[in-house]
Amino acid sequence: MNEKILVETATRLFAGDKGLLAMDESNPTCNKRFAMLNIPQTLEARRAYRELIVTAPGLGDSISGVILYDETIRQQKKDGTSLLKVLADAGIVPGIKVDTGAKDLAAHPGEKITEGLDGLRDRLKEYFQMGARFAKWRAVLIMGEGIPSRSCIAANAHALARYAALCQEAGLVPIVEPEVLMDGGHTLERCRVVTEEVLRDVFVQLNCQRVLLEGMVLKPNMVLPGLSCPAQESVDKVADTTMKSLWRTVPAAVPGIAFLSGGQSAELASARLNTMNHRFKPQLPWALAFSFARAIQQPALELWRGEAANVKSAQEALVHRARCNRAARRGEYTAAMEKT
Ligand code: 13P
Repeated sequence: MNEKILVETATRLFAGDKGLLAMDESNPTCNKRFAMLNIPQTLEARRAYRELIVTAPGLGDSISGVILYDETIRQQKKDGTSLLKVLADAGIVPGIKVDTGAKDLAAHPGEKITEGLDGLRDRLKEYFQMGARFAKWRAVLIMGEGIPSRSCIAANAHALARYAALCQEAGLVPIVEPEVLMDGGHTLERCRVVTEEVLRDVFVQLNCQRVLLEGMVLKPNMVLPGLSCPAQESVDKVADTTMKSLWRTVPAAVPGIAFLSGGQSAELASARLNTMNHRFKPQLPWALAFSFARAIQQPALELWRGEAANVKSAQEALVHRARCNRAARRGEYTAAMEKT
C-alpha cells in the first residue's frame, strides 16, 4: 500500500476549506431526475449536463474533488476536450463511484446490500490509470419497523471494508459511505441510535480489513428525524446530535468527514453543516466537510432544464451552492448569503 499517496490525496480533498461535489448519479438515477423536469433522458443530455457542471467558472474555488460515474469519466466536452482534462485544469481531483448499486438483501424483506466487489481490483486499476485518485461506495440502511437488522448492518459494513482495502491497494482514497436514509417517520433519537450502531460496525470492519484510517474519508448521513416525523428538530439540535454520534464512533485518525445531503434542502444542509463547524470546529479531530449531490446540484438542474440558453444561470446557481458550503466549512455561512 502506498500510504504517502493516500494521505496526500486525503489532505488535498480537505484543503482550503473546500469540499466534494458528488456528480456520480447512475444512469437510472440521473434519468429519473431529468424526467421530473422533462429533460430528455439521453446520453447526450447527460453529457451536456456534466459538461455544464465541470466547466462552471469558479467551481474549483470551493470544490476540491468531484465524484464521477463510469459513463462520465470517459466523456468529453462538445469541443472534444476530455472532462478529466477540464477538471485537472481547474485543480479538481477526480473520483469515481465504483459500487454497482444497492440490491435486495436475500431473506431480509425491505433491506438492501450494495454490490460490486467482483472484479473490483481490475476496475480500480483502470480508474487509477485514467487519473482517478479516490473512489466511492454507498451502503444503504433503510429505516422501518425492526429494520435495519443487525445482519444487514453487518453485511454492508463488511462490503464497505472489503472495498476500502481494495481501493487503498490501488492507490485510491476510499470514501466510505454508510447512508441511514431519511425516509420514514422515525425520530431524531432513533436515527442517532441506528447511525451510531452502523458507524461502530463500519469501523470494526475497516480495522479488521486493515484499512489505513489516515487514508480514507467517511461520508455519513447527518443525524436527522425522518422526513415524515412530526418532530422536525432545530438546526442546533441536529448539529448537537450529529456531533455526539460522530465523537462517539469516528476515530481521530480519520482525516475528514464529508456529509451526504440525503434529500435535505440545499439551504438546510448548508445551515446544519455551518452550525457544526461554527460551534465545534476548534475541538474537532477531523475536518467536517461536504460531499453533496442534490444539495449542490438541484437548484442548478431546475434552472437548466436541458436548455443551452440556461447554462450560464445554472452554472451560477451551482457555484453559489458550492460557495455557501465552503463558508459552512468555516462556520461563516449566513442566511444572508442566499440573497446575494
Ligand atoms: P446526496 O447529497 O444527494 O444525498 O448524494 C450524495 C451521494 O453521493 C449519494 O451517494
